[in-house]
Amino acid sequence: MKKTLNLKVPKLKMSKRLFIPPIKSQGIKTKLVPWINDLVSIADQKGRWIEPFLGTGVVAFNSGYKRAILNDTNPHIINFYKSIQAKTITAPLVKAYLEKEGELLSHAENNGYEHYLKVRTRFNSGQFSPLDFVFLSRAGFNGMMRFGSKGNWNIPFCKKPDRFAPAYITKITNQVAAVSKIIQPEPEWVFHNQSFAEIIPLATKDDIIYCDPPYYGRHVDYYNGWTEQDEALLFSLLSKTKAKFVLSTWHHNDWRENVMIHKYWSNFNIVTKDHFYHNGGSIENRRTVVEALVCNFETAQIAQHNHGLKAKPKIRQLEMAFEE
Ligand SMILES: C[S@@+](CC[C@H](N)C(=O)[O-])C[C@H]1O[C@@H](n2cnc3c(N)ncnc32)[C@H](O)[C@@H]1O
Repeated sequence: MKKTLNLKVPKLKMSKRLFIPPIKSQGIKTKLVPWINDLVSIADQKGRWIEPFLGTGVVAFNSGYKRAILNDTNPHIINFYKSIQAKTITAPLVKAYLEKEGELLSHAENNGYEHYLKVRTRFNSGQFSPLDFVFLSRAGFNGMMRFGSKGNWNIPFCKKPDRFAPAYITKITNQVAAVSKIIQPEPEWVFHNQSFAEIIPLATKDDIIYCDPPYYGRHVDYYNGWTEQDEALLFSLLSKTKAKFVLSTWHHNDWRENVMIHKYWSNFNIVTKDHFYHNGGSIENRRTVVEALVCNFETAQIAQHNHGLKAKPKIRQLEMAFEE
């Protein structure tokens, strides 16, 4: 497949307001959704949206597809969204729960920390309540999701005892209400808790597969281990698929290049874009990364690279569209 270079600043489609999911994670693709959607729209696939590495779900929920297969190895993410799909978790239930737990947090010893610890211990003891999952996701430090070596939630407290103020609870409740409208009942939307290797072969020629695997050589936790063997297997499965695919990966940063690009992905079409990851633990994760989208269809309609161009797209409008 031949690559073409067209050095134009990509047009950002700001017409549609973005849906923000009720759970957070450091790899969340919120700000890249318009770019991903622009590329996906070129593929113009009429089948299903297939996302083997769902994470918070922000890309799937803004895809507009009415039929989907969504998967993640993290059982808490899948359990949470399946509970919303089954309507065992509803917006009023989340509101009542957060009001109660938020009140306990605001009065707890040690500036709220004791109650955060109580919920975290309850969750890690094996109860795995989807409601506690939302609490931890929204009261943890810096909107991060990370699990320790035994699969335990190990993010520290954000140190804000009044975290669940009424306006914040309303915001989260509205996000749950919105996602419960987006998620279609089975069999239109099907959730899985398996390896990507079980999911990609389910795709047929009319489907679009969007993959956002853990980035090779970057942050790792219990559910985000990623080896070169994983990358090779992903490459092999995506090379064989009859569907169209879009893969998110990183291209390079100030220090190094992603060696996987040259090794596996350079025979496909690649578009790149600067992206600033503002959360995450290490200094490296806080710097600008050149993101890449790899795909198996022609991309002449979209600017191939904006890396290095100084023109700033409409930042103010962008910020207005992406609220927490
Ligand atoms: C980079 S995150 C996806 C972020 C997502 N696009 C978002 O915007 O929120 C990668 C996800 O892949 C999941 N994952 C890691 N290894 C996996 C595997 N072998 N198969 C399926 N999912 C996996 C992780 O649990 C994590 O949620």
